[in-house]
Amino acid sequence: MSNLDWANLAFEYIRTDYRFIAHYKNGAWSAGNLVENNQLVLHEASPALHYAQQCFEGLKAYRCKDGSINLFRPEENAKRLQKSCQRLLMPPVPEELFVQACTQVVKANEKWVAPHGFGATLYVRPLVLGVGAGLGLQPAKEYLFVVFCAPVGPYFREGVRPANFIVSEFDRAAPNGTGAAKVGGNYAGSLLPAKLAKEQGFSDCVYLDPATHTKIEEVGAANFFAISKKSGAFVTPYSPSILPSITRMSLVHLAKEYLGLEVVEGDVFIDSLHEYSEAGVCGTAAVIVPVGGIFYKDKLHVFYSQEQAGPTTQKLYDTLVGMQFGDLDAPQGWVLKVS
Ligand code: PLP
Ligand code: COI
Repeated sequence: MSNLDWANLAFEYIRTDYRFIAHYKNGAWSAGNLVENNQLVLHEASPALHYAQQCFEGLKAYRCKDGSINLFRPEENAKRLQKSCQRLLMPPVPEELFVQACTQVVKANEKWVAPHGFGATLYVRPLVLGVGAGLGLQPAKEYLFVVFCAPVGPYFREGVRPANFIVSEFDRAAPNGTGAAKVGGNYAGSLLPAKLAKEQGFSDCVYLDPATHTKIEEVGAANFFAISKKSGAFVTPYSPSILPSITRMSLVHLAKEYLGLEVVEGDVFIDSLHEYSEAGVCGTAAVIVPVGGIFYKDKLHVFYSQEQAGPTTQKLYDTLVGMQFGDLDAPQGWVLKVS
């Protein structure tokens, strides 16, 4: 086991021992292998560098009480990466190659998976890059599939404490753009809005739907949900321009099947925040962070509390995290034991 301050890890790059790399050339992916070098040498005219022909994923490995290690729903990340690849005319990484690469990377870096009980995890970052000489605006002819990992703590400074967000005047995605794909270009555009939000004391910004600017879409690095005051329903935006979060997909199931809540995938109007008793953001890096308040039109709308998670958000958190760390039984197929 590595000698890190597991309780105080941030969400930052820490070099681990091995990463996986496979090449796509002449119409086929290589089998790939683990390497120690953490530097990539790329052609200066690589389409990934000029035209953002690249996409990525994020998933985590969790240390269980018995010392074994879980990956959470890696097949879903594999499927989403394939969709991102298709959107950018990149050759999809076969699901089997994806899962095997993530498994190998976690196993090889086992000593970087935090002990159970610290809340820290090993974040696994798969990426696909269009490489080789390509000056005109055309898809690359060659690609790299890389999987590296780093031990991480909470993404938002607040951890599980409520965080405040501000509605951005910028859009994260266009109505028929690439919002539903996990592509770097979406994130480059969100750096400035996030910086402005942080300068004003918020954790990040909330993006509204790009067509009408009346409905919440998501935040820069996580999906959004709220709990209806009237019915107790779990409500989460449905939109073709948000990233379909695997955490959110899991919460939809847990809300329905474990908490017995009605689930509504539909509109959350920014003018109707008073209809919700709780709100939260969810994602692999973010896990679940309760939304303390949302600042919109010169007013901070406070949900449950600025101090603690609401009861439904807390139950969802405990159930999800309990399953990820192996303390609770997860639905069939959600957890892949890698060691
Ligand atoms: N939305 C955005 C923009 C994200 O970057 C992420 C992170 O992956 C999510 C939502 C959450 O998705 P997931 O739960 O699959 O990590
Ligand atoms: C994740 O949650 O895995 C993400 O990719 C978000 C990223 C901006 C850290």
